[in-house]
Amino acid sequence: MTKKKITAIYPGSFDPVTNGHIDIIKRSIKIFSKVIPAILVNPEKKPLFTVEERLYLLKDACKDLEGVEPVFFDGLLVDAAKKYGATVVIRGIRAVSDYEYELQMALMNRSLYEELETLFLVPAQEYSFLSSRLVKDVYGAGGDIKNFVTPLVAEKLREKFNR
Ligand code: PNS
Repeated sequence: MTKKKITAIYPGSFDPVTNGHIDIIKRSIKIFSKVIPAILVNPEKKPLFTVEERLYLLKDACKDLEGVEPVFFDGLLVDAAKKYGATVVIRGIRAVSDYEYELQMALMNRSLYEELETLFLVPAQEYSFLSSRLVKDVYGAGGDIKNFVTPLVAEKLREKFNR
């Protein structure tokens, strides 16, 4: 595939980054010359990991991916896109249930910044059920999450839950 000389931003809470996120990042960097996975604040969520921890884990997960540059941005997604020169927003869509929220965000972002296009990517089927929330729920209840996150995320979860 010929890469587009376009920077795409991939926003999310990344609390923590999962293999599903990494799958979407890998698909995105096949299409675009630069991908910025951006940790942004979702006021609806109370994160388990601090911003610094989430960025550390995200950077580790992307360390071998050329053209992928994780950041944290405190503000609107559209302002992060402007700051990093991104004209495309990537979001992963898993199930139909994701769609309504995603559509609202895409349309709001477009009304704030007309040139910004939102592109929905579909993760590998094995990650279609995966979310950061489920990883934390499963781990918190004593389950095994090693197939769903990087070894460093698994280690940090162990520390958080005092295992
Ligand atoms: O992983 P999430 O929690 O679904 O990601 C949501 C996120 C962080 C992308 C969204 O809450 C966001 O864009 N926050 C930044 C503030 C903003 O721009 N809000 C308006 C969105 S329409």
